[in-house]
Amino acid sequence: MAYNKSIAEDVLKHADIVQVISSYLPLIKQGKNYKAVCPFHDDTNPSLVVSPEKQFFKCFVCGTSGTAISFVQKYEKISYGEAIKKVADIVGYHPEGLDSISRPKKVDERRESLLKCLHDLCLYYQFALNTPEGKEGLDYFESRKLDAPLRNKYKLGYAYKDGKATINYLQKKGHSIKTIEDTGVAKMISVGNYADMNEGRVVFPICDIDGNVIGFSARRLVNDDTAKYMNTPETYLFHKSSNLYNIHIAKEAAKLKGYIYICEGFMDVYALSKIGIDAAVAIMGTALTNEHIQILRGLNVEIRLCLDGDLPGQSAMMKISKALSKAGLKYRVVDNQGSSKDPDEILNEDGKEALEEYLNKLTTQVDFALNYYLRSNPLKTVDEKKALIKEFLPILSKINSQIELDTYLRKLEKITGFDVESIRGVVKKARLSTADDSVDSTSKIIEEYRPEKKELQKLLTAERELLYQMTQNKSAVGFYEAKTPGFYDDVYRTIANFVVEYAAGHEMMDDVGLMSLLESSDLENKERIIRDLVSIYSETHPQECTEELLNNLLDTIVSERKRITEEDVLSQSLEGKSELEKARIINEFNRRMVAKK
Ligand code: UTP
Ligand code: MN
Repeated sequence: MAYNKSIAEDVLKHADIVQVISSYLPLIKQGKNYKAVCPFHDDTNPSLVVSPEKQFFKCFVCGTSGTAISFVQKYEKISYGEAIKKVADIVGYHPEGLDSISRPKKVDERRESLLKCLHDLCLYYQFALNTPEGKEGLDYFESRKLDAPLRNKYKLGYAYKDGKATINYLQKKGHSIKTIEDTGVAKMISVGNYADMNEGRVVFPICDIDGNVIGFSARRLVNDDTAKYMNTPETYLFHKSSNLYNIHIAKEAAKLKGYIYICEGFMDVYALSKIGIDAAVAIMGTALTNEHIQILRGLNVEIRLCLDGDLPGQSAMMKISKALSKAGLKYRVVDNQGSSKDPDEILNEDGKEALEEYLNKLTTQVDFALNYYLRSNPLKTVDEKKALIKEFLPILSKINSQIELDTYLRKLEKITGFDVESIRGVVKKARLSTADDSVDSTSKIIEEYRPEKKELQKLLTAERELLYQMTQNKSAVGFYEAKTPGFYDDVYRTIANFVVEYAAGHEMMDDVGLMSLLESSDLENKERIIRDLVSIYSETHPQECTEELLNNLLDTIVSERKRITEEDVLSQSLEGKSELEKARIINEFNRRMVAKK
C-alpha cells in the first residue's frame, strides 16, 4: 500500500473535489459550499456537504466523509487503488507510477492449494453421505426434511467416524500434510498423527462469495455435551467475522428481488430456500461485523433482519439495527417480538403460508426499537433514557406527519418517563437547526443531551482545538509530544498519532496529505476517525497558533483531567455511604477544591 499513499496525495492535490463529485451527483451551490443528496444512505434531503476550500465531503446524517478518492471508492464500490485511477481520469492528471497501482494479482499458490484440498474434502463428505456408514447422517437430514436437491444445492455431507482415514484419503489425493493442516480440518491426536475434527458429524460447507468452499460447520448427531455445531477455526481462507453463510447464492437472488434476509443459522436459510427465497444469509450465531456490513452495502438492497423472537434474538437484532443505522443502510425488521419459533420450526409446524406471513410482517427501525424498549428490555437509568432520545432525534426530526410523530412521542414518553411536550421541544430544536446552514448544529443539540459528555466538554473542546492546531503547524505537534500526556479521547489520540507520523515525514503539515494517509491506513475504526477529523476541520478556528494559545490549551487539558479523576474518586468514595456521611464527604471535597484555587 505504501506506494499508493504518495500517488494518492499527488492526485488529490491536482483534483477538485467539486469537479469529481459533480461527475456523479448534481451539486447545488450554497454559500461557500456545495450540497447534494447523500448517496450513502437512504435520504431525500441534501445532507451531503462538499467543501471546495477544504477539499472534503461530509454527510451530516450518516457521517460518511473523506476526500475525492474515498468518495469515488465508496460510490463505485471499488478498491482505494482503483479509485485513485478514476479520480486521475476525471481530472485528467496522470502522474508517474499511476499504472503501478493494483497490477493484476499474481496467483496465490497457498490459496489455490487450500481451495483444492477443501474442494476434494467436500466431495468426499458428500460421497460419504450415501454410503452405509453415512446412513446416520442421511437419516438426520431426512428427519430435518432436507431432501436430495436441497442437500446437493448446499453440498451437505457426512464425515466418517474414522477421521484418520479421511486425512489419509486427502494425502493420497496428493495434498501435503501442511496444506491439510492449514485448512483447519485436521486435529493432531499425537505427534505427526492427524484426524478429521468433524468426524462422526453431518457437515455444512461454508463458501466464500464466489462459491469456493473455505471451511465447514459440523453438527453433532446426538445430544451430548460437545458443541452443537463445530466450526473450522480461523485459517488463511476462513474468517468467521467476514463470512456470511450462503452469500454466494443469496447475492444474485438479492439483486433480483431487491432485498436480503439476515438469519441466525443454517436451518433458517434452508427454510427460506424451501419456500423459494434464496435471498437469505446466516450470521452463524455471531455479531454483525463491519466486514459483513461492507458486503451488504455492496448489494445495495433492502436488508431484512430475521433473528429469533426471544430476548437474546431481539437484543442481537437491536445491536445489528444500530450498526446498520450507523452505516446508513436501508433495513426493516421482521416483527416477531415474543415469538418462540425460528423459521425452520414455523415451516415444519405451521406450513408455508405461515412462514411467508411471518417473513412479510416487517416493521421500520423506529417501531422495532420503540417496541423493544417498551416490551423486551425496559431502560433503567436516566442516562440510558436520555441516550435513547438522543439516538432517536435525527429520525424524529425528519418525520413530517404530526400523527406519526405523536405516536412515537407518546411511546417515548412511556419508555423514558419524560413528558411528550419536553421531548417535542427537543425535536423542534433539532428540526430548526437542520434547516439552517450551520453545520454540525444537530449533533450539538444531541451532544447537549448527553450528560456524561457534558462533564468532558471542556476537556474535549481543548483537545479538539489542540488537535486542529497540530494539523496546521508542526510546532503544535512538537508541543503535543513534549508537553501533553496524550489525549484523553481515544479517537483524538489515534488521529494525533497519525499527525505525528505525518509531521515526521513531511516538511509542512497539509490537510489533504494527512487525510490520504488516514484513508489508506487499515484501521478498524477508520470511518469514525475520518468523520471526527473532518468535523474538527469544519469547525471555525479563529485563533492563531501562538505559544500562548498552546499553553492555555495545555492548562485546560491538565486541570480538566485532574478534575475528572478527582470526581471519579469522589463518586467512588460515596458508594454505599449513608446520606449524612455523603454530605460530609462532599463538603470536605468542595473545601479542598476551593482551597486549591
Ligand atoms: P441455533 O442454536 O439457533 O441453531 O444457532 P439452529 O440453526 O436452530 O440449529 P438446530 O435447529 O438446533 O440444528 C444458530 C446458529 O449459530 C451457530 C450455527 O451457525 C447455528 O446455525 N452455532 C450454534 C454455532 O456455531 N455453534 C453452536 O454450538 C451453536
Ligand atoms: Mn433450530
